[in-house]
Amino acid sequence: MIKIAVLVSGSGSNLQALIDANLSGKIVGVISNKPEAYALERAKKNGIQTAIIEHKQYPNREAFDDVMHQQLLAWNIDLVILAGFMRILSAKFVQSWEGKMVNIHPSLLPYYKGMHTHQRVLNTGDTLHGCTVHYVTAELDAGQALAQGVIQVNLHDDAHSLTQRVHVLEHIIYPQAVEWICNGTIQHLENGNVLYKGQHLEKPIQFCNV
Ligand code: GRF
Repeated sequence: MIKIAVLVSGSGSNLQALIDANLSGKIVGVISNKPEAYALERAKKNGIQTAIIEHKQYPNREAFDDVMHQQLLAWNIDLVILAGFMRILSAKFVQSWEGKMVNIHPSLLPYYKGMHTHQRVLNTGDTLHGCTVHYVTAELDAGQALAQGVIQVNLHDDAHSLTQRVHVLEHIIYPQAVEWICNGTIQHLENGNVLYKGQHLEKPIQFCNV
């Protein structure tokens, strides 16, 4: 059974969706860089062990990442899931977990990498928006996309409503993509290629809620 660690910084609604999904992998531990993150309560309520590793206590990014790396090794983790983890990871850490670490980002990547995606979508006047599950590579929000949830932007939408509507989709596509990894439907090969049901994954699997 695949052993999963979830890295969080905040509310952890995606962690909750992963817990509720009864994955065929096991969520072994949750790491937070913020002691006050509500995600830690969610983990404890579900009997999942937690580790608080505060980035502020380390002299630099590499030192902080190294402590996380050691914790992941101690838990014997196969798959790292970033779920609202608000730290940029060092290249060394990312390389150590390449092909074994995924993230969810609130935009239709490759559009709107980085922060404030909902407002940027509104500013541009896009009619479609959504979220993307992707493998993590050293370049921010640029790894192979696995799954996307798509919504139509309505005339009355603001950044708050888009945040909420995208969140609903996140809670569907993240557990689904993770389950595909756990049960072998998605495979990351040594050469970096990603297979979906044994075939090269050309573009992310799309979930539409327009
Ligand atoms: C989500 O919007 C996700 O796309 C982004 O961080 C947020 C985490 O929310 N990466 P939550 O903590 O899972 O509720």
